[in-house]
Amino acid sequence: MKRPQLDTLRNRLVLLIFAITAAAIGFVYLYIVPQLESSLTTEKLSRLERLGSEQSPAFARSLARGDSERQLNALVRMIGQNTESRVTLIGIRESAGGPRPGLVIADSQDQTTAIQGDYRAAHIALEEGRISTGVDTIAGDRVGTSAVPVSVAGDVRWVAVLSDPLAEVQDNVDLIRRQILIGGAIALVGAVLVAFWASSAVSRRLRRLRRAAEQVADGNFSHPIPIDSSDELGQLARTFNDMQHRLERLDSARKDFIANASHELRTPIFSLGGFVELLEEDELNTADRRQFIGEMRAQIDRLQKLTADLLDLSKLDADAMELNVQPVDLKELSRSVAGEFRQTAKGHGSSVEVRGRGQAVARADADRASQIIRILIDNAIMHTPEGTKVTVTAVRGGDAAEVVVGDDGRGIEPRSVERVFERFFTGDVAAGSGLGLAIGQELATRMGGDLDVVSQRGFTAFTLKLPLAEPAAERPRAAGAAA
Ligand SMILES: Nc1ncnc2c1ncn2[C@@H]1O[C@H](COP(=O)(O)OP(=O)(O)O)[C@@H](O)[C@H]1O
Ligand SMILES: [Mg+2]
Repeated sequence: MKRPQLDTLRNRLVLLIFAITAAAIGFVYLYIVPQLESSLTTEKLSRLERLGSEQSPAFARSLARGDSERQLNALVRMIGQNTESRVTLIGIRESAGGPRPGLVIADSQDQTTAIQGDYRAAHIALEEGRISTGVDTIAGDRVGTSAVPVSVAGDVRWVAVLSDPLAEVQDNVDLIRRQILIGGAIALVGAVLVAFWASSAVSRRLRRLRRAAEQVADGNFSHPIPIDSSDELGQLARTFNDMQHRLERLDSARKDFIANASHELRTPIFSLGGFVELLEEDELNTADRRQFIGEMRAQIDRLQKLTADLLDLSKLDADAMELNVQPVDLKELSRSVAGEFRQTAKGHGSSVEVRGRGQAVARADADRASQIIRILIDNAIMHTPEGTKVTVTAVRGGDAAEVVVGDDGRGIEPRSVERVFERFFTGDVAAGSGLGLAIGQELATRMGGDLDVVSQRGFTAFTLKLPLAEPAAERPRAAGAAA
């Protein structure tokens, strides 16, 4: 036999709602209904008690008058009619333990059906000497009673019992019980159906999410989930679609990266292969051989630079770039990096000038900061016409130490400016792989700073911002400066 599955959300919800509804019905049936029954009974008894004490003077008068049996029968019948209850007058029998109810003297209904003075309320009324109420069973029916001792000159002679069947209360309560059972059964079936319907809808939507997640796991990003509501599941679907988009972008970025990187690697390798073939030819003069070897060196340099860049990027991506952060004087650093370019600049007819205002000491990794400045100066020479003037300025800004590398070259095309920091973006024909600025910007960010560009016709400036070594102290106001 197949066991019902309890580990589905739907079945659990249905079971939970069934249990809650059943508990509510059980509570009403087992707790509220008995309370209702007892309060209806109490109400009946207090009515009998009130009637008993109202009628007590009439009995006392009759006792004092010494009414005959016929007169007594007429009295109880009249009172019975007035009070809409059965009136039984019981005589007293003296016993060792005090007065006890004795024989029935008169009864507003058939005398023989009265239990001979054995009403519990009558016993208690005689013991306590005052009106008392109780519930008795007469011929199988529950009856509410109130009993009043009737006395003349302080001598108790009778006890008058007013009784009223509780069948009406019982009928009402039974009816309510039946209604609760029927209504409860309908409510249970309804609740289970509604729970089943609602949770089926929820689990259908969840299944759809799961299927979509499986497709993403398979590398398929082209199936967004329809968003059909604004509830939590709708929000989840929205988040999931966002995630899908982001994964898709990441995935295509990764594919682009691999394609670009292999392309960049292939070009110099092919070219090296070509030169090796040329070198293998026998009738090659020394000048050609030297030229080929020179070209090969250039390709090898390019390969070396490219692999170093790729390694840096993979370290940055893996968050594995180790930084040795310490105070770095940016002016000194700029001067030493600019020195490396003296030869290149001369070959390009350009000049690199280093300026500095005040102390610009950053908290940074000296090697990585040099690497960024090197990338910027290299670009300012490589991507500008011959004779361009490059200036490197180290300054202390308000909240950062800055190096600005500016040139008076042609400037970057407006539509390229936003893209220069993208990986593998190259905006002109100058041989580069387009990784320099991408690496520079990520390094700057990693050191808590940033790298920005401003460019227009005839002017380009890249600004590297790094955190100050010591936070900006309140600058002491120079005495008499205002004078
Ligand atoms: N100083 C500059 N003047 C003009 N163009 C620049 C300058 N610096 C960068 N660029 C543009 O930005 C692009 C990206 O630079 P970079 O990331 O260093 O790659 P690469 O130098 O390998 O081309 C360059 O191809 C160039 O078009
Ligand atoms: Mg570059």
